[in-house]
Amino acid sequence: MQLLEGEKEEILACVKDVLGGNSKTQENLIPILQQVQKKLGYLPTMAIEKIAEGMDVPAVDIYGLATFYNQFRLNPPGKHEVKVCMGTACYMAGGDITLESFQRRMEIDEGETSQDRYYSLGRVACVGCCTLAPVAVVDDQVEGKVTPTRVDGLMLALEEGRDDNSSQQPDSSEGDNNE
Ligand code: FES
Repeated sequence: MQLLEGEKEEILACVKDVLGGNSKTQENLIPILQQVQKKLGYLPTMAIEKIAEGMDVPAVDIYGLATFYNQFRLNPPGKHEVKVCMGTACYMAGGDITLESFQRRMEIDEGETSQDRYYSLGRVACVGCCTLAPVAVVDDQVEGKVTPTRVDGLMLALEEGRDDNSSQQPDSSEGDNNE
């Protein structure tokens, strides 16, 4: 995932700030990751590397921690977030097909964000609307009976909201900083 213009500076300042406000001990690692994620919205690769450097721990250990706890996200949130319910009722009603439909149309996998950061796609556990299965949560709005045809309709509505300024552009002066 490419960084946006100015994002590199924002990440460096954020990590510096958070590390400066905490003692760099092993037990503070999770609170530090939480604080960085709260400020940036996710844990960019660059932030993880700078935290590792600052705390003198291997970056791979921090990745291990960040991927173990699902409170952490390694991809930035998209402008539109879609979460497909994978609770039992929704799964039985075709939740996996709903998820695949979104994946195909967004051209991303579950857990990913599109390069222009317009979409991110994930899964949720039961949201308490099982009678509407299969369910998807689109920008915090619960949508029921989400068949592939309904996915087309939802995607159309999201695409209609797209304009030239609606998605953030990667910083063309940067390389691929967050792979
Ligand atoms: S299982 Fe999906 S809303 Fe309950």
